[in-house]
Amino acid sequence: MSRKLARAELEAAVARAFAVRANAHAPYSGFQVGAVLVMADGSMYAGCNVEVASYGGTVCAERNAVGAMVASGARGPVACVIATHDARPTMPCGICRQALFEVADDLQVLTVAELPSGERAEQEISLAELLPFGFKFDPTTKRQPAP
Ligand code: THU
Repeated sequence: MSRKLARAELEAAVARAFAVRANAHAPYSGFQVGAVLVMADGSMYAGCNVEVASYGGTVCAERNAVGAMVASGARGPVACVIATHDARPTMPCGICRQALFEVADDLQVLTVAELPSGERAEQEISLAELLPFGFKFDPTTKRQPAP
């Protein structure tokens, strides 16, 4: 992982994650999520969850943030901030952990939950902790990278 950002350095990304969360399309679950990928230069890419009436088509906030980053031609995020309104911080689902691993070998993850009272709970964890022994595939050799 690159230099771990101090919590204060992630404040703008937390605000952005809560802002994009408000745009989430989550009529089925009612659970809106915002995610922001932070780059080494401080730039950010945001995504929210988009649910689909055929539920399997739903895409999580984290993967939509990855899509926004890739569409902008950027790679190599250093942190991912996740925002929800709930009593406890939301952890990225298994598919999103793998999608984040696609674009970063490791990543600082900060997940923040806000209660209606405005009280917040948060947790910081690395992608390596969330996805130990993650699967990688080398497109050149068509094999897993050498150990
Ligand atoms: N969801 C996310 O967007 N990110 C997560 O980290 C967990 C779950 C979404 C998917 C679905 O729209 C809703 O939350 C409930 O599962």
